[in-house]
Amino acid sequence: MCGIIGAVADSAIKPVLEGLSRLEYRGYDSSGISILADNEIKTRKVQGKLNQLKRLLLEQPLEGKCCIGHTRWATHGKATVSNAHPHQCGRVAVVHNGIIENYLHLKEKLLQWGHHFNSSTDSEVIPHLINHYLSQHLSEEDAIAKAILQLKGSYALGVLIDGDSNNLYAIKQGSPLVISQGVNGAYLASDAMALGPDSSKIYYPKDNELIKLTSHGIKLCNPSANRKIHYVNNSYCSKIVSKGEHSSFMEKEIFEQVDLLNSLSVDRHASDYSTINFNDFNKITIIACGSSYYAASVAKFWFEKYANILVEVDIASEYRYRSPVMTHKELAIFVSQSGETADTLAALKYAKANKVQTLALVNVANSSIAREAHFTFEIYAGPEIGVASTKAFTCQLAIFYKMCLEAAQQRAFIKFDELKQLQQNFLQLPYLIEKILQRCTEIKLLAIKLSRYSNILFIGRGIQTPIAHEGALKLKEISYIHAEAYAAGELKHGPIALLDEQMPVVVIAPKDSLTDKLLSNIQEVQARNAPLFIIGDASIRDYINLKEDEFFELPPAPESIQPIITVIPMQLLALYCAQTLGKNVDQPRNLAKSVTVE
Ligand code: AGP
Repeated sequence: MCGIIGAVADSAIKPVLEGLSRLEYRGYDSSGISILADNEIKTRKVQGKLNQLKRLLLEQPLEGKCCIGHTRWATHGKATVSNAHPHQCGRVAVVHNGIIENYLHLKEKLLQWGHHFNSSTDSEVIPHLINHYLSQHLSEEDAIAKAILQLKGSYALGVLIDGDSNNLYAIKQGSPLVISQGVNGAYLASDAMALGPDSSKIYYPKDNELIKLTSHGIKLCNPSANRKIHYVNNSYCSKIVSKGEHSSFMEKEIFEQVDLLNSLSVDRHASDYSTINFNDFNKITIIACGSSYYAASVAKFWFEKYANILVEVDIASEYRYRSPVMTHKELAIFVSQSGETADTLAALKYAKANKVQTLALVNVANSSIAREAHFTFEIYAGPEIGVASTKAFTCQLAIFYKMCLEAAQQRAFIKFDELKQLQQNFLQLPYLIEKILQRCTEIKLLAIKLSRYSNILFIGRGIQTPIAHEGALKLKEISYIHAEAYAAGELKHGPIALLDEQMPVVVIAPKDSLTDKLLSNIQEVQARNAPLFIIGDASIRDYINLKEDEFFELPPAPESIQPIITVIPMQLLALYCAQTLGKNVDQPRNLAKSVTVE
């Protein structure tokens, strides 16, 4: 999603371009920079990727000490040069992350005042408003403050003003923003990961705090006694994330899962989960988007089965727009890899405002969601760069499993021996995942055959149903093959009408208490001549005759941990289908890693 970066430094263009490169993983379709040079704002923008912007800058170089840059993920208006940021009006250039909801009203007003617009974006009203107030002889700070008062929606802004000195301003409302003071300069960015090695200390501004970045340092405009800049360590500083020998970050992240599960297996962080008294709650609501939502859906099965606690799972973008029944005996868990997903953050604020206890489960320690919740647990997956979530999903599941065992222990719902067995089961994960990864070429065979189809159904039963959804999501995200998932028992209530030779069905069929029921569903598929692809237990082959490019044998595994195992072939299937079709696995079209707008 849109990324912003700004720097006040000698040769400020260098850290800005480097920052834009670090933001590439978030997904974008145009990019641009503006710089203050010779008392004039100069801008270069391109439709497309950063290497095109760099090429343009080689042809038309820029130099200066105050620079802003942007990668745009189109919302209002197509991915064109004129819609790319920065947007400029007179003395003001702005990069914006977020959505200005009342921009049409503001644009109408500005048009009446004689302004002309060059783009169809919501963002362009911002420099126009600031410039309007500057022309009324307001100071830079007052002009920005007055313009901000008019905006409804969410924003993180970098504002460059052509004035007496080289000044850059930053302000946010509901969108992520970080500020940093380094040895060689002052910086702003929408993501701590965008900042370079000069940014070991960062500050997370509060909503509507106007900050001025100058060559003499960073200052809060209108500070008061209880508002000061408090820097924290930037855990991403100097961490160079590379894909090593892998063909993509996604591939690397899939193969990292063995080590990650190993490091989570030890009793590490176990005491964190005991800070929650699960006897205080009679209900858990888990709220998330996308893959994080499917991880939450798996957790529901575990919490209900082993801790006997009622769990509701909600899609974050829907939660606050219905009338959820909330009680003071409820724990609301918000799951987010990035910790910045706008819908999840808004749902968290909504639950908090309704006096519900909130817990964040995040991968990014200092993210907005982590900072907002009453309790925060990390999933320790390390930076995830591939847009398709893989290792973060399995780490979310692993942490949920551990939380659930803590809840089961506290609520004394299962016997001590069973609890011990569940703990033992968890320790088998790295070995079992490794066994699957070692046979990844077998999954490649299935992927080559599957990638010839345009539509694919995924089915599973019970706790495997969310894994079927995750498999379908993964596949459509990066291969663009249309895929849908169903609880296998639902097939005959509608989707079975779709089945024919052109509609393959991928079945997740580990050995569990529902295998016999699933076998009946598999027969229903076979009877309609739909091509079958099974990721399943060896025993399935006794009933159904499948070729080696139609069946992947799962290693035998205890039922409680099976979702963390069956998702691995789903990830590999998606990866190899996308590779077979020659798609960009890490940065699929239209998608963003961190969805910071509603
Ligand atoms: C996963 O492959 C997706 N890219 C997407 O569904 C993602 O899980 C969703 O946007 C939620 O992101 P979050 O976990 O960072 O909140």
